[in-house]
Amino acid sequence: MKTETKTQMLEGAPWLLAHKSMLQRNKPYKISLYGKDYVIWKDSNGNIQALPNICPHMGAMLSEGWCEAKSDGTSEIVCPFHALKFDRDGCTILPGTDKKTLSQMQPLELMIKDDFIWSYGDYKPQIPIPDILDKIAQEYEFIGYTADTSVKTNLLSMLLNMHDYNHQNGTHRDLFEITEVRFEKFIDNGYHSEAFFNAPTAPKTLWEKLKQPKQFLLPDVIEAHLENYFPSLVIFHGDNYAGKLAQCHLFVPESLTNTRTYILLFAKLNNSLARLLKKQFLGLSKTVVEQDADILHKIYPNAPQKIKLNNEVGMDWVKRNFESWK
Ligand code: FES
Ligand SMILES: [Fe+2]
Repeated sequence: MKTETKTQMLEGAPWLLAHKSMLQRNKPYKISLYGKDYVIWKDSNGNIQALPNICPHMGAMLSEGWCEAKSDGTSEIVCPFHALKFDRDGCTILPGTDKKTLSQMQPLELMIKDDFIWSYGDYKPQIPIPDILDKIAQEYEFIGYTADTSVKTNLLSMLLNMHDYNHQNGTHRDLFEITEVRFEKFIDNGYHSEAFFNAPTAPKTLWEKLKQPKQFLLPDVIEAHLENYFPSLVIFHGDNYAGKLAQCHLFVPESLTNTRTYILLFAKLNNSLARLLKKQFLGLSKTVVEQDADILHKIYPNAPQKIKLNNEVGMDWVKRNFESWK
């Protein structure tokens, strides 16, 4: 029988927990996956490790503690309560002894490919880790990450929103002012799919653009090419005067009721104006996520869908892949 977590949080899928740039050296960082919290940290050698966040002594949150760097470049996580130090394997040395204990907790297994930190959350892998991010990282410049947000919604609702090609005029109305969505095609290859559409934006005067400089980043017609890797990644490929953008949206099921999302932005920029606007591109991406998070907080869960619009093919793809997850 399928368990709730298995079908609702897709056990056995690979999740990108972070890009290495999101972690500062020797600074604990808390992540949640499948209803469990972990502390993840990068040592002085640049190695990454993750342990359950609950201290095996009296349950303090290790992510609230600090890291102690050692001369060999490794570091230990120090509990904020009684300052026990744990190495990457979860071993500690008790006060008054000089011998390491056995491991007191099971480290979270991480798959690290270049700057990308993946995990199956200790479940048996059902599908491979997509290699598209490695390719993008080779070809594009990494601009940065933004909008790391924990949204109070389940994974399915989060993904439906991401693959909904009709919500620009509701959720994102004041940002894009899209006049219509012209859907071109959807290519369905199982867990991989691609959507192509274009969307003209309402014309803006120079004065309007000056008032909201983000508008300079928006072309007259948004040519959208979405590349989807079920369930954890959607790449928005954008092409305009500034160059090529790959806006990567990541999803992580933190629990049955919370889903994390964030963006990694990559670009190949053609001109110096575009380089100057680098930060603006991140700001624009952040606004998009904030608007999505906002509407996700305003939807009744499990409401029956009685009306169907055109171009819901991306959502159909999500639903089918959810239902067939084994
Ligand atoms: S609770 Fe962590 S050392 Fe005591
Ligand atoms: Fe959106």
